[in-house]
Amino acid sequence: MQRFSTSPAWQALLAHREALAGKRISELWEDDPERGPAFTFRCAGIEADFSKQRITAETVALLVALARERGVPAAIEHLFTGDRVNVTENRPALHTALRGEEHVLVDGQDILEDIERGRQRLRVFSNAVRDGQWKGATGARFTHVLALGIGGSALGPRVVIEALAAAADGPQVRFVSNIDPAELDDALAGLDPAATLVVIASKTFTTQETMANAAAARGWITRSLGSEAVAKHFVAATANTAAAVAWGLPECNVFAFGEWVGGRYSVWSSVGLPIAMAVGMARFEQLLAGAHAVDLEFRSNPLEHNVPALMALIGVWNRNALGTPTHAVLAYASRLQSFVAYLQQLEMESNGKRVDAEGNPVDFATCPVIWGGTGTPGQHAYHQWLHQGTDAVSCDFIVSARPAGSNTAHHEILVAHACAQSEALLTGVATAESHRACPGDRPSTTIVMPSLDAFHLGALIALYEHKVFAQATIWGIDAFDQWGVELGKNIAGQVLPAVRGAEATLHPATHHLLGVIHKLGTGE
Ligand code: F6P
Repeated sequence: MQRFSTSPAWQALLAHREALAGKRISELWEDDPERGPAFTFRCAGIEADFSKQRITAETVALLVALARERGVPAAIEHLFTGDRVNVTENRPALHTALRGEEHVLVDGQDILEDIERGRQRLRVFSNAVRDGQWKGATGARFTHVLALGIGGSALGPRVVIEALAAAADGPQVRFVSNIDPAELDDALAGLDPAATLVVIASKTFTTQETMANAAAARGWITRSLGSEAVAKHFVAATANTAAAVAWGLPECNVFAFGEWVGGRYSVWSSVGLPIAMAVGMARFEQLLAGAHAVDLEFRSNPLEHNVPALMALIGVWNRNALGTPTHAVLAYASRLQSFVAYLQQLEMESNGKRVDAEGNPVDFATCPVIWGGTGTPGQHAYHQWLHQGTDAVSCDFIVSARPAGSNTAHHEILVAHACAQSEALLTGVATAESHRACPGDRPSTTIVMPSLDAFHLGALIALYEHKVFAQATIWGIDAFDQWGVELGKNIAGQVLPAVRGAEATLHPATHHLLGVIHKLGTGE
């Protein structure tokens, strides 16, 4: 396939950029005061307002032509029907099947039955824990879940459980991802082993951090309850049942999912077990339903008003035509506090690539740095940089139309600030005092959810998943591998013996650094 950067549709977009040059976004508003509704589209009940982007109807038409030329419609079909879209690992990426009801074949096997069986097992088990039928070794009811996992095996459940905190009516979930021992100590503080269920979530069941934390948690449980307690207090969500059984779990404690679920796309699988325990299986299923609603629209809506596709295309426009180096996600919803961390993995682990799917180096920029946080606290931190920094970047604002908390007046203030920030980024302000002037003209999208409920949260996550896939398709890269994380893991394996005092051949820089750490650690 022709390279993105030399494709005729991209060349047409670059010419269009020249034609638009010098046109401020606020001038686009002056030219067309109706651009609000013209550039606002709905998907699964969520509205995406692209009207503050530096786009015209012609930009969108050219971007859609780019998507067609890059084969986005066909790629969407390949994704949903189980083609091996993860090229370097030679497997499909079928997270959409986990929330759908379609028969999909993997290696000639229909996976729908397995998915439904898996979901039924989650339902039965999560209900049993919530009802107190599945008890600890002493007969105590589980009041807490210790959720062990890292990356995609933790971020999704964490986002969802935090976002749906108001609906939490099951055991309280505490997450441990880091190998930093402080994290496990903090999570265990105040927990009663007799009333704690441990979920080990790891697709591979080999991830060093998770396996070390699992071993430590096993020690914590067995020291007070004996080794027999493991079968009552530990369950696993994994694609590697054999490893979980070898670890010491009865097979019935293993909630398996397929190799065809990417780690960062696994919240919809048994990795979501802590969600089902915390807020109930019905809400977990609403989450799946919201994502499925987006799937249906992504697959069938014309690209001109296909929200995930437009998010992707406008992202490409900002990154590759307008040169924005980073993209800020500003969630005006306190309970979305971990959403940016989730998106960092989703977007940067998927599309932080420098070769295309055929292994050729790319000659254009791929994924921007994704960063951000929650509004309004961000306004008292990095928004200064957004308004007056030397880099103009793009932003996504996320707003819930209805309040998440009890105080409606506070929600009104929150909404006012979200609107004000995107307006300020758009218009800027000219003043005689240069230190007060804001250049404005900084593009943003505002994503408005009716409320922060399970259905719309599932939809929100799926919007970004499909944005990432569509962008990868346009750039011609594999969104489903992550080989870049391997090098550091390998080096850590070589460094660890030296940290423990053994002889090891190290890079001189690492040898020096370990010396510094050793000096301070021993107080020499
Ligand atoms: O950091 C790499 C990664 O492989 C992620 O893609 C994944 O979500 C995470 O590690 C955890 O992997 P696992 O679920 O196999 O423990």
